[in-house]
Amino acid sequence: MSRYLTPTLAALKPYTPGEQPQDQQYIKLNTNESPYPPSPAVAAALTAEEADKLRLYPDPACAGLMAAAAKHFGLAPNQIMPGNGSDENLFFALRAFCDSTRPLAYADVTYGCYGVWCDLMHIPSHILPLEEDFSLDPEKYHGLGETIVIANPNAPTGLALTPGQIEGILKANPDNVVIVDEAYVDFGAESCVPLIHQYDNLLVVQTFSKSRQLAGARLGLAMGNAELIADLNRVKFSLNPYNINRLTLKAGQAALEDTAYFEATRNKIIETRAWTAAELRKRGFVLTDSRTNFLFARTSRMEGGALYRALKAKGVLVRHFDGARVSDYLRITIGTPQQMEALVKALDEILEG
Ligand SMILES: Cc1ncc(COP(=O)(O)O)c(C=O)c1O
Repeated sequence: MSRYLTPTLAALKPYTPGEQPQDQQYIKLNTNESPYPPSPAVAAALTAEEADKLRLYPDPACAGLMAAAAKHFGLAPNQIMPGNGSDENLFFALRAFCDSTRPLAYADVTYGCYGVWCDLMHIPSHILPLEEDFSLDPEKYHGLGETIVIANPNAPTGLALTPGQIEGILKANPDNVVIVDEAYVDFGAESCVPLIHQYDNLLVVQTFSKSRQLAGARLGLAMGNAELIADLNRVKFSLNPYNINRLTLKAGQAALEDTAYFEATRNKIIETRAWTAAELRKRGFVLTDSRTNFLFARTSRMEGGALYRALKAKGVLVRHFDGARVSDYLRITIGTPQQMEALVKALDEILEG
């Protein structure tokens, strides 16, 4: 820390992203990326002609992508805004809908960036503990009078609420925005996008990083009532109107339009998740009912941190969090069937060796 850093950021603890080893020698099950490449339509869209156009700024309105997304989700283009990953859209939403008098309410065990952004922007955090089994009691979110963010399904627990339960929260907080972070929704939960037509306080945030294989392109969508989206655009156009680069605009549109590839790859992940969960249960692991592209699992046979390190030594990277309620657990991204077989083999060697 330099002596020039504003003292207001001295206590800020940045988010620690999962390791991204550059030698790629690990079986990488630690950051919930897809093990499959993007749709072939993505590579086809990234032509030499598009590369030539990199000398020009991208379209700040992202009109082509917005028209495709509007058609895909059954919304109007002015009900959608793209972001540089869903992280950026979530950040814009907190900037737009929270301040020192309007705290952000979120679960104690959830995506770590929410709290970091609150600290960065001096937004008070209202942390609501999940139940003992990591489920979220929607009633705790009724009548809060605060902006709310719920990852649905939640990370790292993998558990999902139904749209009906989210609807109860929307109804019980008519004067506050409820942000539903649907980063993992395509792997087995039900989206709240259709509720946008009924609730002007609902903002749904989705990403292309997981079920559309574009984590490296950085693209997400915020969807909601046109006025909420205009508020987000107010923030975006006050920071960086060109936040989505030209290649990502093309890649994102191609990925969105290849619905057959999307279905095939997410179904493979769901099948591999079921296989892996069954194998872990056979070995005595305790798992949550994951609706995501990862499993959240623990075993009484070894402490979480030790198991993470033992797997890493065998070339398998998973994610371990230090927090009090979760330190026994590992978050394991679903890879290809071969990768998951290698994980199970490594676990057997560690736990039986
Ligand atoms: C719950 C949740 N929300 C948002 C994100 C951010 O995703 P993106 O790559 O779109 O910024 C993640 C990333 O892992 C996540 O787990």
